[in-house]
Amino acid sequence: MRAVVIAAHGGAENLEVREVARPVAVGDRVRVRVRAAALNRADLLQRRGLYPAPAGAPQDVPGLEFAGVVEQLGEEARAWREGDRVFGIAAGGAQGEYVVAAESALARVPENLSWEEAAAVPEAFITAHDALFTQGGLTVGERVGVHAVGSGVGLAGLQLARAAGAQTFGTARTQAKLERAREFGLDEGVVVADDPKAFADAVRGRTDGAGVNLILDLVGASYLAANLDALSYRGRLVFVGTLAGSVAQLDLRVVMSKRLRLAGTILRARSGEEKARAVRLFAAHVVPLLARGAVRAVVDSVFDLADVRAAHERMEANENFGKIVLRVTGGG
Ligand SMILES: NC(=O)c1ccc[n+]([C@@H]2O[C@H](COP(=O)([O-])OP(=O)(O)OC[C@H]3O[C@@H](n4cnc5c(N)ncnc54)[C@H](OP(=O)(O)O)[C@@H]3O)[C@@H](O)[C@H]2O)c1
Repeated sequence: MRAVVIAAHGGAENLEVREVARPVAVGDRVRVRVRAAALNRADLLQRRGLYPAPAGAPQDVPGLEFAGVVEQLGEEARAWREGDRVFGIAAGGAQGEYVVAAESALARVPENLSWEEAAAVPEAFITAHDALFTQGGLTVGERVGVHAVGSGVGLAGLQLARAAGAQTFGTARTQAKLERAREFGLDEGVVVADDPKAFADAVRGRTDGAGVNLILDLVGASYLAANLDALSYRGRLVFVGTLAGSVAQLDLRVVMSKRLRLAGTILRARSGEEKARAVRLFAAHVVPLLARGAVRAVVDSVFDLADVRAAHERMEANENFGKIVLRVTGGG
């Protein structure tokens, strides 16, 4: 089968599309004929040699999410039938014509989503749903901050928070992304250029000093002090990404006096059972919202598999608003 291969670690020029062995599904795993797959920051890091795939996953074929048709069942797989339209997550290997994934890592694609839209959903929405609700304990009517709100995960988090009745605050480094995010439920946008304090100032100014109850942080280290400042009494901070670094100074007195809770999350490295739980919650709570258009896949751009280098370059330049999708095979 044709697949993206990381031929050597380094820049996008090391990506190739070539023939590799088609994977075989055994046990409770299923093989999916991939129609589209999406790109993630993790692919960029893996390409640079900074984020190896976990043991058991393909090491040189990237890809954490996909949409396609179930094509072969392992001997213990019971949840799906050949021909089912599914989307889901894998620890790697999704950017090829076939991927093998645990049957519990898949959900049924709603009729109203195209393959490209479906591929843009799983990683962003499962991560955001898990971070907001399972880790962050979001309840109806709270105030939520989302950093890098124009990112794939950011726009998923924004829409899910809004669907739960939250008042939403978001940051980006350009006004243009904030303007576009309004359509997806952004109430208050803050341009954070070099000064994350602008976020805390804006939040406190617009909440009569009360702060936000929950922050979905995709940016990391440089935003920590502003996050603590912006959080309300008993606020929660969920670390999802480290785009601006992972090492920061923490003022414990603020954490203690505000009785804050800090949590970190990562999807890829979780056990199969933990992933299955996150996917079950996604299927139960997010897929129905997608089916009736209450939340939407945000597709920034679609590239043919052969143009994967250009897709990486677009993400690396921070040009995308929403998800970058790779079209893998044609057909309906
Ligand atoms: N924990 C998990 O399980 C998990 C799962 C998926 C993704 N993630 C992480 O979540 C983050 C977002 O992923 P994504 O795929 O949604 O990203 P994405 O769509 O590529 O968007 C990332 C955006 O973040 C902003 N950004 C980049 N570098 C920045 C910096 N140094 N400071 C401030 N903003 C910066 C840029 O937007 P602006 O133009 O607004 O600056 C960029 O477009 C990544 O760190 C990713 O690794 C974590």
